[in-house]
Amino acid sequence: TDPVDRTLAAFRRGDPVLVHDAADREGETDLVYPASDVDAAAVARMRNDAGGLVCVALSDAVSEELGLPFVQETIDHGLAADHDLAYDERSSFSLTVNHRETFTGITDADRALTISELGALAAAPDYDQFVDAFRAPGHVHLLRAAPDLLDDRKGHTELGVALAAAADREPAVVVCEMLDDETGGALSPPDARAYARRHGLVYVEGAALVDRLN
Ligand code: 5RP
Ligand code: CA
Ligand code: ZN
Ligand code: ZN
Repeated sequence: TDPVDRTLAAFRRGDPVLVHDAADREGETDLVYPASDVDAAAVARMRNDAGGLVCVALSDAVSEELGLPFVQETIDHGLAADHDLAYDERSSFSLTVNHRETFTGITDADRALTISELGALAAAPDYDQFVDAFRAPGHVHLLRAAPDLLDDRKGHTELGVALAAAADREPAVVVCEMLDDETGGALSPPDARAYARRHGLVYVEGAALVDRLN
């Protein structure tokens, strides 16, 4: 069957999927899960098998409701004055958060709680509930998707949120870059495909998602 159909079916089940953005963009493959399905074992897989930064991407509408800014528009510092990225016009980074019922916030159990509760909140976003249940700064990076998703930007942030929408899941996904333990660089697409095959997971190209979900 079609890789996009397999991706949607896997995602609906709450299985992680591997999404490569594009060779002419980051050239990275992220492990992507629906946020509400993340448990401690999923966080362990992200840090052991993926190894990148664990981030939760939220739709523009949810981010608006929760009052989430882009970091570069928030901090009044020279570091953010020139937002010069090599691979895109702007990053999607927003605040970092922890659920208030976490201890340090970094353990697998703590991050799983933060991530899964973000997933639950995204289904019915409410600013007061957000503030009651979470604090900032924390150990989970939030990413804010572009308003028109893949028409605006083709990052993992938008690919993940578009996937969630197409799979009828709440607009909150966790993403983590797959790095190569040998080289320290991005895991190559062939190696990412091999990982997917070994673990019975789906690998999909960002371009295929853009074609189908846009
Ligand atoms: C945060 C990142 C990742 O690349 C993540 O995939 C989100 O970014 P983007 O939407 O730009 O791909 O930099 O770890
Ligand atoms: Ca590893
Ligand atoms: Zn990315
Ligand atoms: Zn990245």
